[in-house]
Amino acid sequence: MPERWTPDGWRAKPVVQVPEYPDKAALAAVEKQLASFPPLVFAGEARNLKKQLARVCAGEAFLLQGGDCAESFAEHGPNNIRDFFRVFLQMAVVLTFAGGSPVVKVGRIAGQFAKPRSSPTEKRGDVELPSYRGDIINGNEFTPEARIPDPRRQIEAYRQSAATLNLLRAFAHGGYANLATVHQWMLGFVKDSPQARRYQELADRISEALGFMRACGLDLESHPELRTTDLYTSHEALLLGFEEAMTRVDSTSGDWYCTSGHMVWIGDRTRQLDHAHVEYCRGIKNPIGLKCGPSLKADDLLKLIDILNPDNEPGRLTLIGRFGNEKVAEHLPALVRAVKREGREVVWSCDPMHGNTITSVSGYKTRPFDRILNEVKDFFAVHTAEGTYAGGVHLEMTGQNVTECTGGARAISDSDLNDRYHTFCDPRLNAEQSIDMAFLVAELLKKEREAKAKPLPQVAGL
Ligand code: TRP
Ligand code: MN
Repeated sequence: MPERWTPDGWRAKPVVQVPEYPDKAALAAVEKQLASFPPLVFAGEARNLKKQLARVCAGEAFLLQGGDCAESFAEHGPNNIRDFFRVFLQMAVVLTFAGGSPVVKVGRIAGQFAKPRSSPTEKRGDVELPSYRGDIINGNEFTPEARIPDPRRQIEAYRQSAATLNLLRAFAHGGYANLATVHQWMLGFVKDSPQARRYQELADRISEALGFMRACGLDLESHPELRTTDLYTSHEALLLGFEEAMTRVDSTSGDWYCTSGHMVWIGDRTRQLDHAHVEYCRGIKNPIGLKCGPSLKADDLLKLIDILNPDNEPGRLTLIGRFGNEKVAEHLPALVRAVKREGREVVWSCDPMHGNTITSVSGYKTRPFDRILNEVKDFFAVHTAEGTYAGGVHLEMTGQNVTECTGGARAISDSDLNDRYHTFCDPRLNAEQSIDMAFLVAELLKKEREAKAKPLPQVAGL
């Protein structure tokens, strides 16, 4: 029998990547206040997302998850949110058409504030300070004061998440997500892309499909399915005191839900079996992600699955591989085989960002577009070889025209990185690179679908 679970049970376990707050009384007061605030998401929404992810599990839908590495207080404006939303939906249209199946849209947004760090301190010249851990914890400025964990930041993160979510909901249901409009944006992108010829065919076929629907009398603007969409939110459940304060009992089911986002994930650095993050996540009923890096052994993965999804519920657990383009073909097959052999229901998703970070000659942390794409390609190839379903991608991206990752259709070079390198943490795909990626993933998805399509039944003796 598993031990009884409570929202604060994680406090009795070893924990890494969670800061020590110097002012314990202030922290306790903030957590108490957060616990009295309204939930950001509703349990029924998390259950709906789980149902959608169960369809991904069954190979009947595709998961598109993406957004900032880290959201920031300084960049909390309407344009950022709008531009992300526009790019993300354009990607979704392309993938929906190519896969011929629904795309489950999950943003890394409205709560993605806390960052695990490889080193607890940062050194510049002779000065060594605690590392920046995301705006919900401390400040990015390189001063001793900014780097002290400040609990009041949690209240600000809560309020920012609420405002972001409010705008996303308005966009998704207020008419801005209209399929015809999103398609028009996408055509604008294709027209300006250096890869226009490569993308044109797919774009034309979508235009034709929409034209055919109109010709048949379907009014794209007024049909609710074509006028609205569902965009779910997700973030890494890293700052457990905050998550605990946002954990509430759902009155309809009596179950515990984390109400700071629809889906939360456990990072590759915090997935120790007997540690606090796994303990917290096992008890909430939301869909959960688990980042899987090269150090994860198949045995340990199965143990983690036992803890996190004991009832083998489809849609509950998404395994997000982040191996690096040179390692995915070596590490992923063993995990896929073990999970398949044991009959475990999971969504397989690919995070091609975190294993492909390098330092450029110019000194910037960057990610070459081709390495990102190669990891996605190998991810699909492994699943084809193993007879399993490549169910999704997890991208760090922005709707802005930044220069943080090299390459892409409008080849960003090493020396361009300096132009608009804005990230607070890891390098993100910019708007064009994100849609580029969607077109390229669409090609892979279409192949996967065609390979899976059953041959037509032979009609004998006619
Ligand atoms: N409601 C459908 C969906 O969300 C179709 C749709 C409407 C859509 N607007 C969209 C799909 C924008 C992608 C992007 O899938
Ligand atoms: Mn990151």
